[in-house]
This record gives sequence, C-alpha cells and structure tokens, in this order.
Amino acid sequence: MKLVKLIANLGYGSRKDVTQLFRSGRITDAEGEVLYADDVVPYETIRVDDEPLDPPPGLTLMMNKPLGVTCSRKDPGRVVYDLLPPRYRVRSPALSTVGRLDRDTSGLLLFTDDGALLHRIISPKANVTKVYEATLAQDLRGDEGELFAGGTLLLEAETEPLAPAVLDVLGPRHARLGVTEGRYHQVRRMFAAAGNHVETLQRVSIGALALGELPPGEWRVLDADEVALIFAP
Ligand code: URA
Repeated sequence: MKLVKLIANLGYGSRKDVTQLFRSGRITDAEGEVLYADDVVPYETIRVDDEPLDPPPGLTLMMNKPLGVTCSRKDPGRVVYDLLPPRYRVRSPALSTVGRLDRDTSGLLLFTDDGALLHRIISPKANVTKVYEATLAQDLRGDEGELFAGGTLLLEAETEPLAPAVLDVLGPRHARLGVTEGRYHQVRRMFAAAGNHVETLQRVSIGALALGELPPGEWRVLDADEVALIFAP
C-alpha cells in the first residue's frame, strides 16, 4: 500500500493532509531523513514528528474501562474512545469494542480492528468465558450456583434459556460469575432472577486474559501471545 494511504488510514488525516505532512518534511525515517510519498521503507522505521507510527492494522488492545463511560461511538456523553488517542477513533479498518460493558460496569474491555477475531471472541460457539465480580445488595441465598449452572434459567422477556454459568461465592454479598454468552445486561439480570440486585460489577477476565493491575482508564496494546490467551481455557 502507498505510504500516503497507509498513514491516512491510521487516522493521521485525509490523504491531502498526509501529502502535506510529507511536503513539510514531518515524515522521516528513524535517522531523521525526510521521506517522500513514493518511498518504500519498513513500517517500523517511519516517524511522524519524530514519533513511531501507531501500530498497523491487526491492532487489539485492552482497557480497564472506568465507571461512567459508555462503549458507544455516538453517545453525546463520555465514551471509551475518549480514553484513546483521537486518531484511533478514525482508523480504517475501524477499531471496535469487542462486545460492550454497561456505563455502570468497569473492567476488562477489548478493542480490535480485526473483524474475524471480534466474531470469534463474541460467538457463543467459541465458549470464551467472561468472568465478572459482583457486589450485591442482599446476602446470597445459597441456591444461586445451582440455578446459574443448570442451563435452564430463562431471563425475563427471553425465550432461549441461558447457557450454564459458574458462580464462585467470595463472601455473603460478593461473588464471581463466569458466563460464555453476552446478552444484554446479562449478569445484572441473572442476579435479579435470583431475587438480588447487583450494586457493583467489574469484568476481571476474558478466557485466560486477566485485567491484572491495569489502572482504571488505562489501556495497552496486546501482543499475539496475549490475544491467544483469550481462547485458552
Ligand atoms: N452483564 C451486565 O449486566 N452488564 C455488563 O456490563 C456486562 C455483563
């Protein structure tokens, strides 16, 4: 792909803007030699204003989504894309969230520009377990584990029962729940079906990829080994 198109697709501007960047000598190689639009050079040597180019397509990243931001692109309020460099919002191929977390849910959120990978992660067939940690308004009754594991729980207004889910009780009002689906408000509705109410909810892992110590609002690019962890049991 021509350099102008490649750099424009990363969100640095229109092709006209990028042509202007070349003309004004702001695109160089690692030694500071000015590059021209028809040069053919290795990706990793290209600098814009002395900074390496953003990662090429095939980008997957994880964020610790804070509370109070939505996963939508269009919401007029605070959105997860506001936490990324502005260029990432206009990349082509587009960088999308892998599923969504509610505004009031925090924790592990993935983004990718790889459509096939996105579908592999969210497809119920892939059986990727998403683990949520919840604090609850009332003490657990004791029968929730069995209810969620049964594969027969029907959420309000739905006709298809939920796939079995695994509950780990961490305290009287504190539990971890592993689900393989991603239905609307699923975890909150599951606890509601068990007569409880979720007060706080955080996603702590997807497959074997854990949120770890990433602070709220921070994000980082995943390497291929970390992406593979998503599909590891
Ligand atoms: N389940 C919910 O209820 N909310 C989320 O954000 C994710 C899963």
